[in-house]
Amino acid sequence: MKQKLIAGNWKMNGSLEANDALVRAVAAGMQDAKCDVALCVPAPYPAQVQMLKAGSKLDIGAQDVSQHAGGAFTGEVSAPMLREFGVRYAIVGHSERRQYHGETDAVVAEKAKTALAHGVTPIVCVGETLAQREAGQTEEVVKRQMAAVIHVNGHCISEIVVAYEPVWAIGTGKTATPAQAAEVHALLRKQLLAASAHAGRVPILYGGSMNAANAASLLAQPDIDGGLIGGASLKAPDFLQIIAAAS
Ligand code: G3H
Repeated sequence: MKQKLIAGNWKMNGSLEANDALVRAVAAGMQDAKCDVALCVPAPYPAQVQMLKAGSKLDIGAQDVSQHAGGAFTGEVSAPMLREFGVRYAIVGHSERRQYHGETDAVVAEKAKTALAHGVTPIVCVGETLAQREAGQTEEVVKRQMAAVIHVNGHCISEIVVAYEPVWAIGTGKTATPAQAAEVHALLRKQLLAASAHAGRVPILYGGSMNAANAASLLAQPDIDGGLIGGASLKAPDFLQIIAAAS
């Protein structure tokens, strides 16, 4: 059975001082963890986290990556730059990027492709809004978002991480029930397997108000291979309890 992956997404939170305390506490508390753990930190901080994590098996992630590998793209951060700072993962297509920065399925797919080409594993986020769920469109929406990534030529779908994040569950305290999440994870797995015989190894994370209290029941579902954690990743004791639930 593959190890689960618990990835924290700090979003636009943190400071040198706060990160110092948080990373030290997480690194010290996860010594016996039997899952993979990553912290997806704001763009200025990978170097600080790399220094603080020394000796622990904590991985570093970014929250976004450019679809371009370099050049005249003011404000962008490239996958090769991230690699130089020991970054292993990059979230792409988070609903906050889709909503506030107009990222389309095509842009998300290009970001995933560029990340893979430069040794950064994309964590591809998909998920429906409340209106879409209520209109019975969940399956159609997540499959469309996933298909865009699957059908970008020349990259290996079995090397990505997927995160199912129902938009209505993000930062709201409303978690998908284990059954609701499992239903979507199963259809994503089926879609991935139809594209690649090796897609069984693709971790499919759940994200959306996962916390210390609900992590175990979500992580017990067959195709829930870990979590992408927002708010609860900012508090070391909560994040460590989620890591323990995945171990
Ligand atoms: O990337 C993380 C998700 O947006 C979940 O955030 O745990 O604060 O709901 P949340």
